[in-house]
Amino acid sequence: MSFLRLDSLHTTMVFDVNRAVPACCYWGPRLAADTPLAALQWQPVPPAVLDHPVGLNLLPETGRGWWGWPALSGCRGRFHWSNRFELSGCDASTNAIVFTLADAAAKLEIRLALDLDPDTGVLRQNCRLTNTGDDDYHLHWCAAAALPLPPDSDELLLYEGAWTKEFGLRRQPFPSGALVRDNCRGRTSHSRFPGVIAGQAGFDDRYGSVYGFHLGWSGNHRLVAEATSDGWRQVQLGELLMPGEMILAPGRSYTSPCAYACRAEGLNQLSQAWHRFLRKHILPAGVSRHPRPVQYNTWEAVYFDHRLQDLMALADRAADLGVERFVLDDGWFKGRRDDTRGLGDWEPDSGKFPDGLEPLISHVNRLGMSFGLWVEPEMVNPDSDLYRCHPDWVLHLDPLPRDTGRHQLVLDLARPEVSDYLFAALDGLLTAHPITYLKWDMNRDLTTAGHEGRAAYHSQVHALYGLVDRVRAAHPAVEIETCASGGGRVDFEILRRANRVWPSDSNDALERQVIQHGFSLFFPPEIMGCHVGPAVSHTTGRRLSLEFRGLTALAGHLGLELDLRELDAADVRMLKQIIAAYKDHRNLLHTGTFLRLNPSDKERLGWGVVGTDQREAVYGLFQLQTAAPGASPVVNLMGLIPGQRYRIARLLPIESGTAMFPIPEAPWAEEGLVATGQLLAEAGIAIPLRDPASGVLLKAVAV
Ligand code: GLA
Repeated sequence: MSFLRLDSLHTTMVFDVNRAVPACCYWGPRLAADTPLAALQWQPVPPAVLDHPVGLNLLPETGRGWWGWPALSGCRGRFHWSNRFELSGCDASTNAIVFTLADAAAKLEIRLALDLDPDTGVLRQNCRLTNTGDDDYHLHWCAAAALPLPPDSDELLLYEGAWTKEFGLRRQPFPSGALVRDNCRGRTSHSRFPGVIAGQAGFDDRYGSVYGFHLGWSGNHRLVAEATSDGWRQVQLGELLMPGEMILAPGRSYTSPCAYACRAEGLNQLSQAWHRFLRKHILPAGVSRHPRPVQYNTWEAVYFDHRLQDLMALADRAADLGVERFVLDDGWFKGRRDDTRGLGDWEPDSGKFPDGLEPLISHVNRLGMSFGLWVEPEMVNPDSDLYRCHPDWVLHLDPLPRDTGRHQLVLDLARPEVSDYLFAALDGLLTAHPITYLKWDMNRDLTTAGHEGRAAYHSQVHALYGLVDRVRAAHPAVEIETCASGGGRVDFEILRRANRVWPSDSNDALERQVIQHGFSLFFPPEIMGCHVGPAVSHTTGRRLSLEFRGLTALAGHLGLELDLRELDAADVRMLKQIIAAYKDHRNLLHTGTFLRLNPSDKERLGWGVVGTDQREAVYGLFQLQTAAPGASPVVNLMGLIPGQRYRIARLLPIESGTAMFPIPEAPWAEEGLVATGQLLAEAGIAIPLRDPASGVLLKAVAV
C-alpha cells in the first residue's frame, strides 16, 4: 500500500507512505473514492542537485538533503545535529493516522498524529519526540506540523496587532525564502496571533483556494512560511523554545502543541469550518448550549473606585436595562487602590467591602442577575502581602533585575505551592459565594521567565492549563472569560477552557469593527465579548453615537461597560432596543453560519449570520468612513437558499435619522422587500450609503 487518504465532506488529503518519510502529496477538494493516485507518486530529480529526490515531506530534514527549514532541530552535545528518520509504523483509521518514525543513528523516535475532522475538514496534528538514546538530547525546534502548500499559493494573510489594535490583518505576497514570525512574549500575544492564511492571488471572502493554519498554544510560538528555491512551499507551526528550555533526558519525550489546518474555497468557507470545529470539538459545551447572557462590566464605569453604594446603583440600572450578568472588574481586593498594588492578595478589601462581597452579590442576585468577578491569578504586585511573604515565588532570572510590567511580576505557576495557593484562593471565593463567572485576566508579557535559572515559558503554560482545569473541575458551572489586556491570549488551546474572549481593551466601536472583522476569520461570534462603551472612548478619545456603539456590539456576546448613571431617557430607550434585539436574535446569531459580506474595505464592513435551517438571517452593514468616490451601494446578501423567497426589512435602528445630511432610506426599509436568496446573493441589493460611523441591521425571513 503506498497511499493513505483522509477525507472530509469537502477535502481530501493523500499521503504517500511508500517513502522513508511520508509526504502529503495531495490536499485539495475531495477526490472520488476510486480516484487512481499513481500520478501523485512521481518525484522528478532536477539536474545539478542530489541524485535522489528531496521533496517536501511531513518531516523535512537536513540529513536527507532538505535545504529549507527543517521540522526538527537539536543536538546531543556536539553530535546528532542532523536527522534522517525512517517510517517504522503506521496506524491508520478512517479519520486519523499515526506515523511512527525512528532515527536509529541519532537515537530519536517521532510520532506524528494527524486527524481530519470529517465534517469541517479541519486537520489537527501534533508531534511527539522521544529520546531513545542514553544521554541528553537538546531540542531546539520541533514543528507541530510541517504542511505543504500548492505552488499557486501566492498570497499570505497575516495578523499584526498591538494592544487596542488586536487582530489587524496584513496581506502580502508569499515570500521568497522563509518568513519566520516568532513570538516570545510568553502568552499568545497581541502582536502575533498564531494564525496565517495562504491562498491563490486575490483570494477574498467568496473566491480563491485558501489554506488556514493555527497553533493552539498560549505561549511562545513560531510560524514559518517558506518558498524554497526548488519550488516547494510549506508552513510550519510550533512552540518557540528558549535555549536549554527543552533538554530530554534518556527515555523522555516532548509533545508539541496541536497545530490546526484547513483548506477551503474563499475565506467565508474557511472561517465557517473553524467556527463549526470550535463549536463541536474545542469550546466547553455550555457555550453553544446556553444563551449568552447580556453582561455588565464595571471597569470603564468606576475603574478601581469601588464603593458599595455606587456598585449597587449600577446594578439597579443594569437590571432595569435587561442585563443578566453583573461582572465586578478590577479593584475589589485587598489594597487595590490603583494598578501598583494588591495583585496576589485575593480577599475583598476590608475598606471598600467591610462585610465582604456578600452584600453586593446578594443585591445583584436579588435583581435577577448572576454575578461574575475579575481575577488575575498569575500576577503579583511587589506591593502586596503575597510578594512580601514569598519574593521567591515569581519567575525571575538572577542576577537580572525583576522588570515589572504594569507594576507587576509573574508568579511561577510550575511551583506546586504557587498553583496550590492560587487554587485555594479561587476555590475559596467560588465556594463562599454564588459567583458563576470569572474574568481571568493576564496583563503583562513575560520576560526572563526563569525557574531556578532555567527558561520556564513552556512549564508556565502547562501549569496555567493545569490550574484553570483544576478550577473548572472543582466548579464546573463557573464560566471563564479569557482576557489578557484584551486579546492577548486567544487560541484553540485556551478556548478548551474558556467560555468567552475579551478581544480588545478598545471599546471604540470604529476600531472594534476592524478588530472584530479580523477576529471573525478564526472565531465564532458567541465567544466574542463586545461591550457598548462610553460615549467618548477611553482609549481613543473619539465620540461615537450610542446607536453605532450598540449595533457594533451586537456582532458578538453583548455587554455594557459604561457609567449607566450618566444615561438620559433617549439612551435608555436605545439600549433597551439593542438588548431586546440581542435577546430575540442571540440564538440565531450564536449558532448560525457566519459570513463576511463583500465589499469589505476601509470604508465599509458587513457581516451576516444565517440560521442553520436558512429560514432566517441577520445582516449587519457598517459605514466606517465617508464612502469612497464611486462606491456602489450594492451589497450581496449571501448564504440563503437560492430558490427560496425572503422578506428583508430593517431590524435596527428602529428610529433613524441622526445623520447630519439625512440620506433617504431604501423605499422598502420599513415595509420590507421580497426577493429570492439567489437574487440577494448574486445581484445584491442597493442599501443607501450612510454617514461615517453608522450602521444598519437587516433581517431576512423566509416567506
Ligand atoms: C485589563 C482588561 C480590562 C480590565 C483591566 C483591569 O486591561 O483587559 O478589561 O479588566 O485589565 O485592570
